[in-house]
Amino acid sequence: MYNRKGEKNQNKAKNSSILSSKALSKRIEEIFLRFSSALKTAQIYELNNLTFIEQIRSLFSLIEEIFTEEGQALFQFQENTLFLNNNRIKFDLVSFHNFKFLAGEFRRKEIGTIRFEPGLDDEELAEFVGLLANSREKKDTSFENFQTELEYKGINHILIEKIHPYDPSVRLKHEQVKQVAKKVYFKSITHLKESFDRHKENKKLPWKTSRRLIQSIVNLINQDESFMIGMTNIKNYDEYTVNHSANVAVLAVCFGSRLGLEKEEMIELGLSAFYHDVGKLDIPKEILDKRDKLSEDERKIMEKHTFHGVEKLISLRDSNYLPVKTLYVALEHHLWTNFSGYPKFWKRNKIGLYSKIVKICDFFDSVTTERPYRDHVLTRDQALSLMMEKSGTEFDPALLKLFASMVGVYPIGSLVSLDTQELGIVMEANSEVTFMLRPKVKIITNRKGGKIDGEIIDLTELDPEKGNYKRTIVKSLDPNKYSIRVSDYFLTL
Ligand SMILES: [Fe+2]
Ligand SMILES: [Fe+2]
Repeated sequence: MYNRKGEKNQNKAKNSSILSSKALSKRIEEIFLRFSSALKTAQIYELNNLTFIEQIRSLFSLIEEIFTEEGQALFQFQENTLFLNNNRIKFDLVSFHNFKFLAGEFRRKEIGTIRFEPGLDDEELAEFVGLLANSREKKDTSFENFQTELEYKGINHILIEKIHPYDPSVRLKHEQVKQVAKKVYFKSITHLKESFDRHKENKKLPWKTSRRLIQSIVNLINQDESFMIGMTNIKNYDEYTVNHSANVAVLAVCFGSRLGLEKEEMIELGLSAFYHDVGKLDIPKEILDKRDKLSEDERKIMEKHTFHGVEKLISLRDSNYLPVKTLYVALEHHLWTNFSGYPKFWKRNKIGLYSKIVKICDFFDSVTTERPYRDHVLTRDQALSLMMEKSGTEFDPALLKLFASMVGVYPIGSLVSLDTQELGIVMEANSEVTFMLRPKVKIITNRKGGKIDGEIIDLTELDPEKGNYKRTIVKSLDPNKYSIRVSDYFLTL
């Protein structure tokens, strides 16, 4: 019943002239006017109503114009603020009324983000608006239910994401953040395991779910970065590659947040980290876990996981959506900053930023994890000092410095002995550079060495009488030698 359009804009360049912010606001105002009217009409009439069809046509052509000008159309709602393609949109008073109406409708279904993808046609758009209007009548207004309905109707070019905890309207309490963080972390592991298993049957990688999980990680990091970094102390919860990929993703997203990347960039970085080792899936376990030195042939097979990663990402993608940076990361995450490492004959004269970040996080997680071929697992501060020795050769010096400040001189999760003879676990780095040696520490043994569930102490605390610090770190210790599982202290919080 409608004209099919959309595909033609798929490749229109992002490079094309970006609309001036005033013109963009004008266009968004129009979109919201059309969208509100179409939604109100659909709440009263059937989808074949002529007025509704007209409204959808104009709405569709406005969205198409955004594709043409900007390459994508991503709407994010945060309380009373709208972002289009990560730019904040300002409204005048009349348009704000339309925007508020729509934002209210979306919030009722817990929708925080709507992404219109190239390939959309006006028929699909009409179905979407119709569903939105009809779901008003239904009792179950949950996001999950609405999303299932979208999938059932085959609406594939309008992707929605759940409203996020960091939205001030649903800001979580401190404790809730930790609970959600644990849930998201373990869900990521299960999800990666499922994705990797699907690959064995040549099934597509479920990008949408991966995206949603990374988005949750991004939001949680905004709320409690230290706790998220702490979660990466969980090792060998599942197969190595699965657990490792989740940890690298968490660390990389934290890194991206420290670098001030935009939310969408952090999602791409997180996805790249999730799938950086996807090329390892076909490598036999005997090679992956071999205790002895790899033979020349085995080493070659191992190194090829970078190329295989790219092949898999291309062949197993489940939509047109595949950030090109994920390919670079799969290919480049074993390249050194001085271009040693592998793949050996890489012709680019620069290494991508995301690849350099993933390289750092990958190394850090890998050397701090027990593996059959590793005689000695490094503690987190040993790993950091080893990496510092490789600054400028293996790792990008500026990025490595930033990573060190992110995890701290005593990285989160380190076991430390204090001058009070107590032992503690580093829970949070001190953001003040002058206090880098004074993080927040959870006390886990008393002065006599008995295990206790102590408080989290800020080591900058002074003794009011003496005027000196109450506690100071003497040195860091290897948790394995003390049979301490650091991850337990993050899981029981
Ligand atoms: Fe790798
Ligand atoms: Fe890796």
